[in-house]
Amino acid sequence: MNLTLGNKIVLVGNGAVGSSYAYALLNQGLCDELIIIDVNEEKAKGDVMDLNHGIAYAPTAMTIRYGSYKDCKDAALVVICAGAAQKPGETRLDLVNKNVKIFKSIVESIMDSGFNGIFLVAANPVDILSYATWKFSGLPKERVIGSGTILDSARFRYLLGKEFDTAAVSVHGYIIGEHGDSQFPVWSFANIAGTPVAERLTEERKEEIAVQVRDAAYEIINAKGATYYGIAMGLVRITKAILRNENVVLPVGALLEGEYGHSDVFVGIPSLITRNGVKNIVELSLTEDEKRKFARSVQTLIDIQNSAL
Ligand code: 2OP
Repeated sequence: MNLTLGNKIVLVGNGAVGSSYAYALLNQGLCDELIIIDVNEEKAKGDVMDLNHGIAYAPTAMTIRYGSYKDCKDAALVVICAGAAQKPGETRLDLVNKNVKIFKSIVESIMDSGFNGIFLVAANPVDILSYATWKFSGLPKERVIGSGTILDSARFRYLLGKEFDTAAVSVHGYIIGEHGDSQFPVWSFANIAGTPVAERLTEERKEEIAVQVRDAAYEIINAKGATYYGIAMGLVRITKAILRNENVVLPVGALLEGEYGHSDVFVGIPSLITRNGVKNIVELSLTEDEKRKFARSVQTLIDIQNSAL
């Protein structure tokens, strides 16, 4: 099956995350054509008009219109931001059954169009829904990418940047595992210009930072009902890596097939991203403690996956 090239993007799900993604995409001028699909046609059409009124000031020309699943036929990338959202007090995993059902119908409709591109999944619980997308689509594993821990890793780099008064772009570090409560920072690799940061922090401070990263979404949801700008930037970063064939390593949701000793599970892990999707998963040499935490996180996902799919 030859991958569809070009840069047409179809966005399925125009809620807070989807519409923020569309706006960020327009600002970065990454595609020639953006099609938006949503059950709330009226709101999506309103957003299409509003976005089109910004094109005169965008970095590149772009066609933005409302569409249907038929538009996925020649799309290079379908980004799924649809599904029920997390309410205050709910975990990402609480959403699983509702959203697996929604995804089954969405992914089947997309595949019925003849879609032969790459999926980028960003609805929660994202690891489970990435796995569901892979299963429902029948596409090769490298063509299904979850947002994984792209946002958590950005939150981690932002906090470390503040801690050491250094720009987040110069802070390197990954949160790996579930995009959810069992995630954790790989302290053994976190560095600023190659200088390890873990030894400059007390155990207590490291724990505080890890908890702040892990619980950031709860804090934002309590404050304003949802999180969307951070994830939208993360999704655009992944989009750019794919469409520009960047060969860049990003912490995305990818399928493990023996890497780190685990299989048949999508999880947030540094992966090399190219125009074909996930080229390979980067195997960090984790400490024993990190291996244990990773195994626990993977098991959490496998348990949910087994009950939901
Ligand atoms: C976030 O981490 C809720 O998954 C969403 O912001």
